[in-house]
Amino acid sequence: MARRASAKSSPAGAETASIEAAPSAEAASLTAPAAVPSNTLLEGDCLQSLAGLPDGCAHLAFADPPFNIGYDYDTYDDRRSADDYLAWSKRWMGEIVRVLRPDGTFWLAIGDEYAAELKVMATRELGLTCRSWVVWYYTFGVNCRQKFSRSHAHIFQFVRDPVAFTFNTEAIRVPSARELVYGDRRADPKGRLPDDTWILRPQDLPEGFGADGDTWYFPRVCGTFKERSGWHGCQMPEQLLGRIIRASSHPDDLVIDPFSGSGTTLAVASKLGRRYLGCELSPQYAARIRERLASARPGDPLDGAPEPLKSVPATEDGRRLGDRRTAGKKRSRADKAAGTLLFPTDQP
Ligand SMILES: C[S@@+](CC[C@H](N)C(=O)[O-])C[C@H]1O[C@@H](n2cnc3c(N)ncnc32)[C@H](O)[C@@H]1O
Repeated sequence: MARRASAKSSPAGAETASIEAAPSAEAASLTAPAAVPSNTLLEGDCLQSLAGLPDGCAHLAFADPPFNIGYDYDTYDDRRSADDYLAWSKRWMGEIVRVLRPDGTFWLAIGDEYAAELKVMATRELGLTCRSWVVWYYTFGVNCRQKFSRSHAHIFQFVRDPVAFTFNTEAIRVPSARELVYGDRRADPKGRLPDDTWILRPQDLPEGFGADGDTWYFPRVCGTFKERSGWHGCQMPEQLLGRIIRASSHPDDLVIDPFSGSGTTLAVASKLGRRYLGCELSPQYAARIRERLASARPGDPLDGAPEPLKSVPATEDGRRLGDRRTAGKKRSRADKAAGTLLFPTDQP
């Protein structure tokens, strides 16, 4: 009989491998669930697309919905009344919970405006458990005049079952400050697991963004970056999705994104060997997502610097600290792509 090996992690993070028997073709046909499309983009309203999926089919869902802040999408109107937005959020999040496997994980990216309400909705009304409240701090954020500039989003990690869920700690380890900052030979070569802290520039605070903290630093995919597709203003960094997908799924698992946007989740899932299923309301965005997916193949490297703190130079008094080899020379393209502009000109 064919056997299939799968790796699962305990809540404590230790990975254990288990061998399970794959059902025979006959048994499978008797119990086969409704076919689930995969490696597909469903164009149209995610509520309708999700309604066509069977219960419990997805291992992981990632959603970066419109934040209801009046952002200018080509089809969707991002100016709803608060009541309407919350009622709609409950409907699509309810569908996500339904299509998630009992051991599935739902990651939600959301802005300040509705983070608190959606977190309470997900836990108190939809029965999820919140495992992590991650703050994604990004540089090159939106420049504001009468308030502090927007430079973070909230990313919640919700699970259906508070005990049985996937969390692959080995897959997301990053170098420790002990290694990066102090060059301490006692640093664990495997690194460590990846704070609401006021930090102006992450590279000036190497002890910040500790690998075990829940404040993450990835530069936003801004206009000058090589990674940027250029046609969707909300494109998320591939490295951020990489961490989420590596942590909460295994190869060949099904990853769903109801608000695909520029298709980052789907492209990263594909590169990491996961099956993906995306929804997108806008026919124009959907066409561009398909183009992006056509060139994202399993095994391809993710765009962006895997370790932003390793790839940025240190600064002092607002100036880049001298690297004798490069002092005085023009910054390389790679530096720029890694987000090392000292005085960002890309502030919208
Ligand atoms: C914030 S963007 C997602 C960006 C995405 N995370 C990325 O990295 O490119 C939200 C997307 O949701 C889409 N959208 C809005 N309402 C939708 C709906 N009811 N069903 C499907 N997609 C929808 C918008 O057109 C927009 O492209």
